[in-house]
Amino acid sequence: MGEARDDRWVRYYDNVAGRPPRGTLLRALAAIDAEEGGPRSDALALDLGAGDGRDTVELLRRGYRVLAIDCEPRAFERLRARADLVRREALETRVARFEDVELPPADLINASFALPFCRPERFAAFWPRLLAALKPGARFAGQLLGARDSWASGPEITAFEPHVARALLASLSVEYWWEEEADGATPTGEKKHWHLLHIVARKPAR
Ligand SMILES: C[S@@+](CC[C@H](N)C(=O)[O-])C[C@H]1O[C@@H](n2cnc3c(N)ncnc32)[C@H](O)[C@@H]1O
Repeated sequence: MGEARDDRWVRYYDNVAGRPPRGTLLRALAAIDAEEGGPRSDALALDLGAGDGRDTVELLRRGYRVLAIDCEPRAFERLRARADLVRREALETRVARFEDVELPPADLINASFALPFCRPERFAAFWPRLLAALKPGARFAGQLLGARDSWASGPEITAFEPHVARALLASLSVEYWWEEEADGATPTGEKKHWHLLHIVARKPAR
């Protein structure tokens, strides 16, 4: 990821500041509340590509320990400066590419609008490691990029035909799947065609 992309992330943080948690995360949390009465006391959530923390702050608020991973250090400067950041002692931040990190066993893995930025040649090895880090009964919440997205042909972008993305989820129970396709714009104002695969999926309990 070059300097231009890094600056783009900082402008992105400026433009999304104060936005609520992502819908995919809220769906996963609602399912955990409904089926398990909420997270157990020492539950660990991973937030991959956490950015300035719109999902991380919600996970902390709900009682999770959180390992937030992002390759852009300025993301965590902003996260730590947030007025709505609670339970700071339960937050660990790591400046790294998530595909380079040994993921610990987790009760929830959240990756909102982040996995598409894993380079394609790294994704094939990374995805099985993400699946392995889900504890039995744990959920994944996040997005994959669809093949018709305007960004899909970029050399640093990972995108999938929907049927291929479904195959990646074959070992999980898919609780939510929304294929969104529309012309629109990014939070920084770039016009583009979106093709997004919004996902909540659960690893079978033992
Ligand atoms: C579109 S933003 C999403 C931020 C936040 N999850 C959200 O939903 O608003 C993507 C974030 O992923 C980070 N990122 C991109 N590629 C990454 C990688 N390979 N490893 C870790 N972080 C990455 C960027 O620095 C950026 O903060």
